[in-house]
Amino acid sequence: MQQLKPNVYFVGAIDWDRRLFDELIPLPDGTSYNAYLIKGGEKTALLDTVDPTKADVLIDNLVAVGVESIDYIVAHHAEQDHSGSIPDILMLYPDAKVVTNPKCKGMLIDLLNVSEDKFITIDDGQTLSLGDKTLQFVYIPWVHWPETLGTYLQEDKILFPCDFFGSHLATSGLFMDDEAVVYEAAKRYYAEIMMPFRTPIRKNLEKIKELQIDMIAPSHGPIYDRPEFIIDAYKDWVSDRVKNEVVLPYISMHDSTRKMVEHFVDALIERGITVKQFNLGVTDIGKLAMSLVDAATIVLGSPTVLAGAHPEVAYAAILANALRPKTKFASIIGSYGWGGRMVERITGLISNLKVEILTPVIAKGHPKDEDFVALDKLADQILAKHKELKISN
Ligand code: FEO
Repeated sequence: MQQLKPNVYFVGAIDWDRRLFDELIPLPDGTSYNAYLIKGGEKTALLDTVDPTKADVLIDNLVAVGVESIDYIVAHHAEQDHSGSIPDILMLYPDAKVVTNPKCKGMLIDLLNVSEDKFITIDDGQTLSLGDKTLQFVYIPWVHWPETLGTYLQEDKILFPCDFFGSHLATSGLFMDDEAVVYEAAKRYYAEIMMPFRTPIRKNLEKIKELQIDMIAPSHGPIYDRPEFIIDAYKDWVSDRVKNEVVLPYISMHDSTRKMVEHFVDALIERGITVKQFNLGVTDIGKLAMSLVDAATIVLGSPTVLAGAHPEVAYAAILANALRPKTKFASIIGSYGWGGRMVERITGLISNLKVEILTPVIAKGHPKDEDFVALDKLADQILAKHKELKISN
């Protein structure tokens, strides 16, 4: 079995084939459910388990390491991709205790029917000795559930932060090798899962500063043996800094909106603004989410359907609203046949975003010269707003 440090083993499962999480999030590169076994001089602890579909892999790995007994199962997070095999492990190792905080304990009882007498609850900062190795528990709430905690292994200076800093990336290597690949996967993971929690994440980044960390071993994706790589990336993503970028999710039914989008994209490019254009009929919503991490502006493009936005555009608006990116400006372009309230409906869907709405451009039928002029004016307005922020690409 692969070891992070002496007597610290990876015992998790790689899921090369999984392509969807929560029946929602695309996983183009699969994922892994990282569980770790720490053998101390006196006690043995298992940090998290795996998705229940991979419980057999975890059990095989524990056998391969030669584990005869497990004293503690540390549950960092109640979501089932990490906790779902706890009942199987408790069946195999009936003397093991589940170590977690009171909030996670309650959730594990609710979600998995784990018996109350199986738990040891710990406080923030509390330590648990395994003999020659010491676990220090660190509460890191809202990454991305309220109960989440991490473990800092004091002697080896390893932080196990569960989902925090993770990536949905199946690789055979234990540690990050190709930084560009891992950056992309980690940013996608941040965008889809962590972005709504920028404020608590900032607090958690401050909190872990107190720890001397040599290695970060998350619960998905490769381990970071250069922790500053992912810590610096997170600092950038959660900051208020935005880039000179426009994200443009759109759909077109009879080409009017498409012609407007094409004209508008050219106008933005001429003004030195980076554009990320997504045809929602074919796009990967993970890519769209990633683009929202840094962009200063989002412009939604839609025809009018039944007096409102096309359902694909409404979905993109709902998604952006839920992910709460740091975007500063928003607008709407598109078309209508005989009437409707598309602009009001879309703006109603993005009420969570702290954005200034810039003048929408809605054409009646096929766009005319005055519509293209209005699109140029909107591009001018976006450029001016971006310049006010003194941002760069
Ligand atoms: Fe990887 Fe929130 O579970």
